[in-house]
Amino acid sequence: MFSPSANIAQLRESATIAVSQRARALKAAGRHIIDLGAGEPDFDTPEFIRVAAQRAIDAGATRYTAMEGILPLREAIAAEANESWTGTDRVTAGEVVVSTGSKQSLFNSCFALFGSGDEVLIPTPSWTSYYEMVALSKATVVAVMGDPAVGFKVTAAMLAAHATARTRGLMLNSPSNPTGSVYSADELRAVLTLAAERGWWVISDEIYRRIVYGAPAASAFDVSPTRDNLVVVNGVAKAYAMTGWRIGWTISPAPLAKAMTALQSHTTSNAAAVSQHAALAALTMRAEADVAIASMVAQFAKRRDAAIAILHQDPRIEVLRPDGAFYLYIRAPGAGTVADAGTVFATQLLEKADVAVVPGSAFLTPDWVRVSYAAEQSQVEEAMRRIVTAYGA
Ligand SMILES: Cc1ncc(COP(=O)(O)O)c(C=O)c1O
Repeated sequence: MFSPSANIAQLRESATIAVSQRARALKAAGRHIIDLGAGEPDFDTPEFIRVAAQRAIDAGATRYTAMEGILPLREAIAAEANESWTGTDRVTAGEVVVSTGSKQSLFNSCFALFGSGDEVLIPTPSWTSYYEMVALSKATVVAVMGDPAVGFKVTAAMLAAHATARTRGLMLNSPSNPTGSVYSADELRAVLTLAAERGWWVISDEIYRRIVYGAPAASAFDVSPTRDNLVVVNGVAKAYAMTGWRIGWTISPAPLAKAMTALQSHTTSNAAAVSQHAALAALTMRAEADVAIASMVAQFAKRRDAAIAILHQDPRIEVLRPDGAFYLYIRAPGAGTVADAGTVFATQLLEKADVAVVPGSAFLTPDWVRVSYAAEQSQVEEAMRRIVTAYGA
Protein backbone atom coordinates (compact mmCIF):
# COMPACT_ATOMS: atom_id res chain seq x y z
CA MET A 1 0.00 0.00 0.00
CA PHE A 2 1.40 3.36 -1.03
CA SER A 3 1.56 6.10 1.50
CA PRO A 4 3.27 9.32 0.49
CA SER A 5 6.59 10.22 2.03
CA ALA A 6 6.87 13.32 4.20
CA ASN A 7 8.42 15.02 1.15
CA ILE A 8 5.17 15.08 -0.76
CA ALA A 9 2.58 14.55 1.94
CA GLN A 10 1.26 18.10 1.50
CA LEU A 11 1.57 18.21 -2.28
CA ARG A 12 -1.59 19.13 -4.17
CA GLU A 13 -2.15 18.11 -7.75
CA SER A 14 -1.75 21.04 -10.14
CA ALA A 15 -5.28 22.40 -10.51
CA THR A 16 -4.55 23.73 -13.98
CA ILE A 17 -3.44 20.31 -15.17
CA ALA A 18 -6.37 18.66 -13.37
CA VAL A 19 -8.83 20.84 -15.29
CA SER A 20 -7.16 19.97 -18.58
CA GLN A 21 -7.33 16.28 -17.75
CA ARG A 22 -11.03 16.46 -16.89
CA ALA A 23 -11.67 18.43 -20.08
CA ARG A 24 -9.78 15.82 -22.09
CA ALA A 25 -11.79 13.01 -20.50
CA LEU A 26 -15.06 14.75 -21.35
CA LYS A 27 -13.84 15.31 -24.92
CA ALA A 28 -12.94 11.64 -25.20
CA ALA A 29 -16.50 10.89 -24.11
CA GLY A 30 -17.74 12.89 -27.12
CA ARG A 31 -18.44 16.30 -25.54
CA HIS A 32 -17.41 19.46 -27.41
CA ILE A 33 -15.45 21.11 -24.65
CA ILE A 34 -13.90 24.53 -25.20
CA ASP A 35 -10.75 24.22 -23.14
CA LEU A 36 -9.71 27.57 -21.74
CA GLY A 37 -7.97 25.95 -18.80
CA ALA A 38 -4.48 25.42 -20.12
CA GLY A 39 -1.82 28.09 -20.14
CA GLU A 40 -0.60 27.13 -23.56
CA PRO A 41 -0.47 29.15 -26.80
CA ASP A 42 -2.58 27.45 -29.46
CA PHE A 43 -0.08 28.38 -32.19
CA ASP A 44 2.43 26.05 -33.78
CA THR A 45 6.08 26.69 -33.07
CA PRO A 46 7.25 29.11 -35.81
CA GLU A 47 8.65 27.38 -38.86
CA PHE A 48 12.16 28.84 -38.65
CA ILE A 49 12.56 27.23 -35.24
CA ARG A 50 11.26 23.86 -36.39
CA VAL A 51 13.63 23.91 -39.38
CA ALA A 52 16.60 24.78 -37.16
CA ALA A 53 15.72 21.87 -34.89
CA GLN A 54 15.44 19.45 -37.79
CA ARG A 55 18.88 20.55 -39.00
CA ALA A 56 20.30 20.17 -35.50
CA ILE A 57 19.08 16.57 -35.26
CA ASP A 58 20.74 15.77 -38.57
CA ALA A 59 23.91 17.47 -37.39
CA GLY A 60 24.05 15.17 -34.36
CA ALA A 61 22.28 17.06 -31.55
CA THR A 62 21.12 13.75 -30.15
CA ARG A 63 23.46 13.25 -27.23
CA TYR A 64 23.96 14.50 -23.69
CA THR A 65 25.11 18.07 -23.50
CA ALA A 66 26.80 20.01 -20.71
CA MET A 67 24.51 19.79 -17.67
CA GLU A 68 24.04 23.57 -17.64
CA GLY A 69 23.22 23.73 -21.35
CA ILE A 70 25.11 24.30 -24.58
CA LEU A 71 27.43 27.30 -24.54
CA PRO A 72 26.00 29.17 -27.57
CA LEU A 73 22.53 29.10 -26.02
CA ARG A 74 23.82 30.32 -22.67
CA GLU A 75 25.75 33.06 -24.47
CA ALA A 76 22.62 34.12 -26.34
CA ILE A 77 20.66 34.23 -23.07
CA ALA A 78 23.39 36.29 -21.40
CA ALA A 79 23.48 38.68 -24.37
CA GLU A 80 19.74 39.20 -24.16
CA ALA A 81 19.96 39.85 -20.40
CA ASN A 82 22.66 42.45 -21.03
CA GLU A 83 20.21 44.45 -23.11
CA SER A 84 18.42 45.15 -19.81
CA TRP A 85 21.25 44.94 -17.30
CA THR A 86 23.58 47.90 -17.69
CA GLY A 87 25.78 47.29 -14.63
CA THR A 88 29.52 46.85 -15.07
CA ASP A 89 29.16 43.26 -13.85
CA ARG A 90 28.00 42.08 -17.26
CA VAL A 91 25.94 38.89 -17.34
CA THR A 92 28.05 35.96 -18.52
CA ALA A 93 27.23 32.49 -19.81
CA GLY A 94 28.61 31.07 -16.55
CA GLU A 95 25.63 32.54 -14.73
CA VAL A 96 23.07 30.84 -16.96
CA VAL A 97 21.63 27.38 -16.35
CA VAL A 98 19.36 25.90 -19.01
CA SER A 99 16.73 23.50 -17.71
CA THR A 100 13.80 21.39 -18.80
CA GLY A 101 11.33 24.27 -18.88
CA SER A 102 11.17 27.33 -16.70
CA LYS A 103 9.18 25.22 -14.27
CA GLN A 104 12.33 23.26 -13.51
CA SER A 105 14.33 26.48 -13.36
CA LEU A 106 11.91 27.82 -10.75
CA PHE A 107 12.05 24.59 -8.78
CA ASN A 108 15.85 24.54 -8.91
CA SER A 109 15.91 28.11 -7.63
CA CYS A 110 13.51 27.48 -4.74
CA PHE A 111 15.17 24.23 -3.77
CA ALA A 112 18.66 25.70 -3.87
CA LEU A 113 17.76 28.88 -1.99
CA PHE A 114 15.04 28.11 0.54
CA GLY A 115 14.75 25.66 3.39
CA SER A 116 13.26 24.90 6.73
CA GLY A 117 12.64 28.03 8.81
CA ASP A 118 12.68 30.36 5.82
CA GLU A 119 9.69 32.45 4.81
CA VAL A 120 9.05 33.30 1.19
CA LEU A 121 6.76 36.15 0.15
CA ILE A 122 4.41 35.32 -2.70
CA PRO A 123 2.24 38.11 -4.12
CA THR A 124 -1.20 36.55 -4.38
CA PRO A 125 -2.82 35.40 -6.54
CA SER A 126 0.21 33.78 -8.15
CA TRP A 127 0.82 30.82 -10.36
CA THR A 128 -0.14 27.69 -8.47
CA SER A 129 3.27 26.00 -8.64
CA TYR A 130 5.09 28.71 -6.67
CA TYR A 131 3.24 27.74 -3.51
CA GLU A 132 4.04 24.07 -4.00
CA MET A 133 7.68 24.63 -4.92
CA VAL A 134 8.30 26.76 -1.85
CA ALA A 135 6.57 24.14 0.31
CA LEU A 136 8.56 21.31 -1.31
CA SER A 137 11.67 23.26 -0.33
CA LYS A 138 10.42 23.04 3.30
CA ALA A 139 10.10 26.82 3.51
CA THR A 140 6.96 28.64 4.62
CA VAL A 141 4.74 30.38 2.09
CA VAL A 142 3.72 33.90 3.09
CA ALA A 143 0.94 34.91 0.73
CA VAL A 144 0.73 38.67 0.28
CA MET A 145 -2.76 39.39 -1.00
CA GLY A 146 -2.92 41.99 -3.73
CA ASP A 147 -5.67 44.52 -4.29
CA PRO A 148 -8.10 43.60 -7.09
CA ALA A 149 -8.64 47.31 -7.76
CA VAL A 150 -5.09 47.45 -9.15
CA GLY A 151 -5.01 44.03 -10.79
CA PHE A 152 -3.91 42.39 -7.54
CA LYS A 153 -0.46 43.96 -7.75
CA VAL A 154 1.39 44.35 -4.46
CA THR A 155 3.52 47.27 -3.37
CA ALA A 156 6.85 47.37 -1.56
CA ALA A 157 4.97 48.59 1.53
CA MET A 158 2.63 45.59 1.45
CA LEU A 159 5.60 43.23 1.19
CA ALA A 160 7.39 45.03 4.02
CA ALA A 161 4.30 44.62 6.19
CA HIS A 162 4.50 40.84 5.77
CA ALA A 163 8.25 40.55 6.31
CA THR A 164 9.86 39.07 9.38
CA ALA A 165 13.41 38.27 10.40
CA ARG A 166 12.91 34.93 8.68
CA THR A 167 12.01 36.35 5.29
CA ARG A 168 14.46 34.88 2.84
CA GLY A 169 12.94 35.49 -0.55
CA LEU A 170 10.26 36.79 -2.83
CA MET A 171 8.62 35.37 -5.94
CA LEU A 172 7.80 37.90 -8.66
CA ASN A 173 5.91 37.36 -11.89
CA SER A 174 5.24 40.22 -14.30
CA PRO A 175 3.27 39.90 -16.53
CA SER A 176 1.37 37.75 -14.09
CA ASN A 177 -0.32 34.43 -14.34
CA PRO A 178 -3.24 34.40 -13.44
CA THR A 179 -4.13 38.12 -13.54
CA GLY A 180 -2.32 39.42 -16.63
CA SER A 181 -1.17 42.41 -14.59
CA VAL A 182 2.10 44.06 -15.50
CA TYR A 183 4.22 45.96 -12.99
CA SER A 184 5.44 49.34 -14.24
CA ALA A 185 9.19 49.93 -14.14
CA ASP A 186 8.71 52.18 -11.10
CA GLU A 187 6.58 49.62 -9.25
CA LEU A 188 9.12 46.92 -9.95
CA ARG A 189 12.03 49.15 -8.97
CA ALA A 190 10.43 49.93 -5.61
CA VAL A 191 9.97 46.22 -4.86
CA LEU A 192 13.47 45.26 -5.97
CA THR A 193 15.02 48.13 -4.03
CA LEU A 194 13.28 46.96 -0.86
CA ALA A 195 14.43 43.39 -1.49
CA ALA A 196 18.01 44.57 -2.01
CA GLU A 197 17.91 46.62 1.21
CA ARG A 198 16.60 43.63 3.15
CA GLY A 199 18.91 41.09 1.48
CA TRP A 200 16.01 38.96 0.21
CA TRP A 201 16.49 36.69 -2.74
CA VAL A 202 14.20 37.64 -5.61
CA ILE A 203 13.10 35.05 -8.13
CA SER A 204 11.70 37.03 -11.04
CA ASP A 205 9.72 34.82 -13.39
CA GLU A 206 9.60 36.69 -16.70
CA ILE A 207 8.10 33.94 -18.86
CA TYR A 208 5.31 36.22 -20.17
CA ARG A 209 7.47 39.30 -20.62
CA ARG A 210 7.15 39.42 -24.40
CA ILE A 211 3.39 38.91 -24.35
CA VAL A 212 2.22 42.45 -23.60
CA TYR A 213 -0.39 44.70 -25.19
CA GLY A 214 0.99 48.12 -24.36
CA ALA A 215 4.41 49.36 -23.34
CA PRO A 216 7.11 46.68 -23.07
CA ALA A 217 7.21 44.99 -19.66
CA ALA A 218 10.24 45.80 -17.54
CA SER A 219 12.64 43.04 -16.62
CA ALA A 220 14.07 42.93 -13.11
CA PHE A 221 17.38 43.56 -14.87
CA ASP A 222 16.07 46.92 -16.10
CA VAL A 223 15.44 48.29 -12.63
CA SER A 224 17.14 46.27 -9.89
CA PRO A 225 19.87 48.18 -8.04
CA THR A 226 21.90 44.97 -7.83
CA ARG A 227 21.85 41.44 -9.11
CA ASP A 228 23.64 39.97 -6.09
CA ASN A 229 20.45 38.32 -4.82
CA LEU A 230 18.53 38.14 -8.06
CA VAL A 231 17.46 35.14 -10.11
CA VAL A 232 15.76 35.92 -13.41
CA VAL A 233 13.82 33.01 -14.85
CA ASN A 234 12.65 32.83 -18.43
CA GLY A 235 12.09 30.35 -21.22
CA VAL A 236 10.76 29.86 -24.70
CA ALA A 237 7.44 28.16 -23.92
CA LYS A 238 4.99 31.02 -24.07
CA ALA A 239 6.36 33.78 -26.33
CA TYR A 240 7.69 31.39 -28.97
CA ALA A 241 4.85 28.84 -28.73
CA MET A 242 7.33 26.17 -27.64
CA THR A 243 5.64 24.59 -24.62
CA GLY A 244 6.45 21.03 -25.63
CA TRP A 245 10.13 21.64 -26.23
CA ARG A 246 10.73 22.16 -22.51
CA ILE A 247 13.42 24.82 -22.35
CA GLY A 248 13.76 27.37 -19.57
CA TRP A 249 16.65 29.00 -17.77
CA THR A 250 17.91 30.88 -14.77
CA ILE A 251 20.31 33.80 -14.70
CA SER A 252 21.78 34.10 -11.24
CA PRO A 253 25.08 34.75 -9.48
CA ALA A 254 27.64 32.12 -10.52
CA PRO A 255 27.84 30.20 -7.19
CA LEU A 256 24.07 29.64 -7.25
CA ALA A 257 24.24 28.68 -10.94
CA LYS A 258 26.86 26.11 -10.03
CA ALA A 259 24.71 24.70 -7.22
CA MET A 260 21.67 24.44 -9.49
CA THR A 261 23.76 22.73 -12.17
CA ALA A 262 24.83 20.17 -9.58
CA LEU A 263 21.20 19.75 -8.49
CA GLN A 264 19.93 19.05 -11.96
CA SER A 265 22.93 16.84 -12.75
CA HIS A 266 21.41 14.43 -10.20
CA THR A 267 17.81 14.81 -11.30
CA THR A 268 17.21 15.56 -14.99
CA SER A 269 20.74 16.12 -16.39
CA ASN A 270 20.71 18.44 -19.38
CA ALA A 271 17.61 19.68 -21.16
CA ALA A 272 16.96 17.88 -24.45
CA ALA A 273 19.78 18.61 -26.90
CA VAL A 274 17.57 19.26 -29.90
CA SER A 275 15.33 21.56 -27.88
CA GLN A 276 18.34 23.60 -26.85
CA HIS A 277 19.22 24.10 -30.50
CA ALA A 278 15.63 25.08 -31.25
CA ALA A 279 15.79 27.64 -28.43
CA LEU A 280 19.09 28.91 -29.80
CA ALA A 281 17.41 29.62 -33.14
CA ALA A 282 14.50 31.32 -31.34
CA LEU A 283 16.84 33.65 -29.48
CA THR A 284 19.34 34.41 -32.22
CA MET A 285 17.19 34.66 -35.36
CA ARG A 286 15.88 37.95 -34.07
CA ALA A 287 14.11 39.29 -37.14
CA GLU A 288 12.12 36.09 -37.68
CA ALA A 289 11.34 35.82 -33.97
CA ASP A 290 10.14 39.41 -33.72
CA VAL A 291 7.75 38.92 -36.63
CA ALA A 292 6.40 35.67 -35.19
CA ILE A 293 5.92 37.08 -31.69
CA ALA A 294 4.30 40.28 -32.98
CA SER A 295 1.83 38.24 -34.99
CA MET A 296 0.91 36.01 -32.05
CA VAL A 297 0.61 38.93 -29.63
CA ALA A 298 -1.63 40.79 -32.10
CA GLN A 299 -3.94 37.79 -32.19
CA PHE A 300 -3.96 37.49 -28.40
CA ALA A 301 -4.84 41.21 -28.22
CA LYS A 302 -7.77 40.79 -30.59
CA ARG A 303 -9.10 37.88 -28.57
CA ARG A 304 -8.68 39.75 -25.31
CA ASP A 305 -10.63 42.72 -26.62
CA ALA A 306 -13.37 40.58 -28.14
CA ALA A 307 -13.68 38.52 -24.95
CA ILE A 308 -13.90 41.55 -22.68
CA ALA A 309 -16.48 43.20 -24.95
CA ILE A 310 -18.71 40.12 -24.64
CA LEU A 311 -18.24 39.85 -20.87
CA HIS A 312 -19.12 43.52 -20.46
CA GLN A 313 -22.55 42.81 -21.92
CA ASP A 314 -23.43 41.83 -18.36
CA PRO A 315 -22.45 44.77 -16.15
CA ARG A 316 -22.36 42.51 -13.10
CA ILE A 317 -19.35 40.62 -14.43
CA GLU A 318 -16.14 41.83 -12.86
CA VAL A 319 -13.13 41.03 -15.04
CA LEU A 320 -9.57 42.32 -14.84
CA ARG A 321 -8.31 43.87 -18.06
CA PRO A 322 -4.95 42.17 -18.63
CA ASP A 323 -1.97 44.12 -19.97
CA GLY A 324 0.03 40.97 -20.58
CA ALA A 325 0.02 37.14 -20.68
CA PHE A 326 -3.19 35.55 -22.01
CA TYR A 327 -5.55 35.16 -19.08
CA LEU A 328 -8.75 36.83 -17.94
CA TYR A 329 -9.39 36.83 -14.22
CA ILE A 330 -13.13 36.87 -13.57
CA ARG A 331 -14.89 37.23 -10.23
CA ALA A 332 -17.28 34.32 -9.90
CA PRO A 333 -20.99 34.86 -9.28
CA GLY A 334 -21.79 34.51 -5.61
CA ALA A 335 -18.29 35.63 -4.60
CA GLY A 336 -18.33 36.84 -1.04
CA THR A 337 -21.37 34.77 -0.11
CA VAL A 338 -20.79 31.30 -1.63
CA ALA A 339 -17.81 29.35 -0.26
CA ASP A 340 -15.21 28.70 -2.98
CA ALA A 341 -17.39 30.46 -5.54
CA GLY A 342 -14.73 30.04 -8.21
CA THR A 343 -14.78 26.25 -7.99
CA VAL A 344 -18.58 26.22 -7.99
CA PHE A 345 -18.61 28.38 -11.13
CA ALA A 346 -15.79 26.45 -12.86
CA THR A 347 -17.62 23.18 -12.20
CA GLN A 348 -20.86 24.61 -13.51
CA LEU A 349 -19.12 25.90 -16.65
CA LEU A 350 -17.43 22.59 -17.37
CA GLU A 351 -20.25 20.21 -16.59
CA LYS A 352 -23.16 22.29 -17.93
CA ALA A 353 -21.69 24.71 -20.49
CA ASP A 354 -18.76 22.65 -21.81
CA VAL A 355 -16.21 25.36 -21.02
CA ALA A 356 -13.06 24.50 -19.05
CA VAL A 357 -11.60 27.23 -16.82
CA VAL A 358 -9.42 27.08 -13.71
CA PRO A 359 -10.87 27.80 -10.25
CA GLY A 360 -9.15 30.68 -8.50
CA SER A 361 -8.51 28.51 -5.43
CA ALA A 362 -5.50 27.21 -7.37
CA PHE A 363 -4.08 30.71 -6.98
CA LEU A 364 -5.31 31.21 -3.39
CA THR A 365 -8.17 33.48 -4.48
CA PRO A 366 -11.24 31.22 -4.34
CA ASP A 367 -13.70 33.91 -5.46
CA TRP A 368 -12.25 34.03 -8.96
CA VAL A 369 -11.76 31.90 -12.07
CA ARG A 370 -8.96 32.07 -14.62
CA VAL A 371 -9.87 31.90 -18.28
CA SER A 372 -7.15 31.50 -20.89
CA TYR A 373 -7.73 33.15 -24.26
CA ALA A 374 -4.91 31.22 -25.91
CA ALA A 375 -7.46 29.49 -28.11
CA GLU A 376 -8.95 30.14 -31.51
CA GLN A 377 -10.89 33.43 -31.54
CA SER A 378 -14.29 31.98 -32.44
CA GLN A 379 -13.90 29.47 -29.60
CA VAL A 380 -12.95 32.22 -27.16
CA GLU A 381 -15.97 34.27 -28.20
CA GLU A 382 -18.34 31.32 -27.95
CA ALA A 383 -16.96 30.48 -24.51
CA MET A 384 -17.50 34.07 -23.36
CA ARG A 385 -21.13 33.96 -24.49
CA ARG A 386 -21.58 30.78 -22.46
CA ILE A 387 -19.91 32.39 -19.46
CA VAL A 388 -22.30 35.36 -19.70
CA THR A 389 -25.26 32.97 -19.86
CA ALA A 390 -23.97 30.85 -16.96
CA TYR A 391 -23.28 33.98 -14.93
CA GLY A 392 -26.91 34.98 -15.05
CA ALA A 393 -28.19 31.43 -14.44
C1 LIG B 1 4.04 31.97 -14.44
C2 LIG B 1 4.57 30.74 -15.09
N1 LIG B 1 5.85 30.40 -14.91
C3 LIG B 1 6.36 29.29 -15.45
C4 LIG B 1 5.59 28.45 -16.22
C5 LIG B 1 6.22 27.19 -16.77
O1 LIG B 1 6.60 27.30 -18.07
P1 LIG B 1 7.54 26.23 -18.78
O2 LIG B 1 6.72 25.61 -19.85
O3 LIG B 1 8.71 27.02 -19.30
O4 LIG B 1 7.98 25.24 -17.76
C6 LIG B 1 4.26 28.75 -16.45
C7 LIG B 1 3.41 27.82 -17.23
O5 LIG B 1 2.21 27.81 -17.15
C8 LIG B 1 3.74 29.92 -15.87
O6 LIG B 1 2.45 30.28 -16.05
